Amino acid sequence: RTVSPTGVGHDGPEDGRDPRGQAGDTLTTPNGVRIPDTDHSLKAGPRGPVLLEDFHLREKIMHFDHERIPERVVHARGAGAHGVFTANGAAASVTRAAVLAEKGLETPVFVRFSTVLGSRGSADTVRDTRGFATKFYTREGTWDLVGNNMPVFFIQDAIKFPDIIHAGKPHPDREIPQAQSAHDTFWDFVTLHTEATHHTIWNMSDRGIPRSYRTMEGFGVHTFRLVNAERETALVKFHWKPKLGVHSLTWEEAQIAGGVDPDFHRRDLADAIENGAFPEWELGIQVFPDTPEETFEGIDLLDPTKIVPEELAPVQPIGTLVLNANPTNFFAETEQVAFHTGHLVPGIEGTNDPLLQGRNFSYLDTQLTRLGGPNFTQLPINRPHAPVNDNSRDGFAQQAVHTGQAPYTPNSVDDGVPFPADWAEGGYVHVPRHVEGAVGRTAPASFDDHFSQPALFYRSLTGVEQQHVADAYTFELGKCYEQSIKERGLSVLARIDAKLCAQVAAGLGLPVPKKVKAEKPRLESPALR
Ligand code: HEM
Repeated sequence: RTVSPTGVGHDGPEDGRDPRGQAGDTLTTPNGVRIPDTDHSLKAGPRGPVLLEDFHLREKIMHFDHERIPERVVHARGAGAHGVFTANGAAASVTRAAVLAEKGLETPVFVRFSTVLGSRGSADTVRDTRGFATKFYTREGTWDLVGNNMPVFFIQDAIKFPDIIHAGKPHPDREIPQAQSAHDTFWDFVTLHTEATHHTIWNMSDRGIPRSYRTMEGFGVHTFRLVNAERETALVKFHWKPKLGVHSLTWEEAQIAGGVDPDFHRRDLADAIENGAFPEWELGIQVFPDTPEETFEGIDLLDPTKIVPEELAPVQPIGTLVLNANPTNFFAETEQVAFHTGHLVPGIEGTNDPLLQGRNFSYLDTQLTRLGGPNFTQLPINRPHAPVNDNSRDGFAQQAVHTGQAPYTPNSVDDGVPFPADWAEGGYVHVPRHVEGAVGRTAPASFDDHFSQPALFYRSLTGVEQQHVADAYTFELGKCYEQSIKERGLSVLARIDAKLCAQVAAGLGLPVPKKVKAEKPRLESPALR
């Protein structure tokens, strides 16, 4: 069986404790007291009452009572694996981050794939977006690429995230999931907030039901800013391309697979790795000049509902990811791993994409509760592989016994005081950027284009794939109770493609909306006309 070499995929605690957290030959209490019997409570006689003084019973039950932690508010269901990322050196011209730039450099990684809306116990094969989150344990600190298997997102501003998730999660009164029951709130949201149209049509396509995690693409979605050794910048989008190609299940296959084996994707990933069929992806970047407008060929690079077609900006391979070890313990690794879009290393920066900016707040905030206090970077799966000297102290679940008496920098009291590192010493120094504007709850005008790219996506599909899209819209909209929501759904489809709208209208037994026309692509490039 393939397992991660040290049980948690990287070095255990520095203090020499057994990384399994278990030692000795005999059964003990959590305090190391040897015990002869763990099957009978301490009683006054065989038929007598249980005694309050039974410390073993109380410790054992207390721990069990608290074994569960809150599941993630989104992406609760997932499966993870350890692996290695090897850079091919091609990114050296655009970034100083060794993980991407240094030819042949091998960086350990942990990847977690997930569905978005289902609970921890939900089925793998549902129609949903899939998370594709990668933690790179680089020697310059931890970098997380927290992406999805679709290149766009439902909303353009993080302030709407609670709303789209409320619309998609199980109904608060009956706790019935959206999938295969009432769909009104999801479709109400995505037809009122039409920026969601692009992500929604990806969901309704075959991409919404992957065959396997091993056959999914992954996308960083947002545009990121890379900085090279000369402090020159470029804007990029990250793409994971699976070596096995992109494959999906048909709806009927997904129904059967999900019924027979709700762990279909989780099992497939673990079995493949255990049998030595290590899944592989190529990491690639689309590179755009870092202009003040932050657009490329008329496409707003700060709008997470837009892609840049590969015809306009080819994806350039910069390295390979191989997943080669299953987790040893699901809870310790897959459940406790904490990804965060703000985990960046020198040479990689975010942009002003308002969705990304909100995410940068959200992940730390949720993990503070989910992982019980501020010390979750000390959990084995989250521990950086770079030295940590952060002047942070104490807090819930503190594992370290810090020495010294002056946890601040600079100080004149301690010998061990950490020194700040500037750019030349590998420090994370943000590229200076000019910012100005009137304060207000506003968005750029380009964010109003909601239909040209869904239309482009639909036209890029084969006939069979287009039929699957029509079938999916018909089935899913057909589950809505409210006729007005179905009708609004048809109005959205009419703005994507007249044939698609007519097919779905016929399937729903409703008239095609009048006076709504499909949008013309607003892309300037001749390659896309
Ligand atoms: C979790 C991706 C937008 C909040 C996740 C995970 C992924 C992901 C892959 C699962 C991480 C894991 O495996 O542990 C994305 C992508 C987004 C997006 C690609 C858009 C491009 C947002 C936004 C917010 C948000 C806008 C909030 C403002 C969260 C939260 C979690 C999460 C709270 C749970 C994290 C945890 O409990 O550790 N997201 N997300 N996400 N996401 Fe997002």
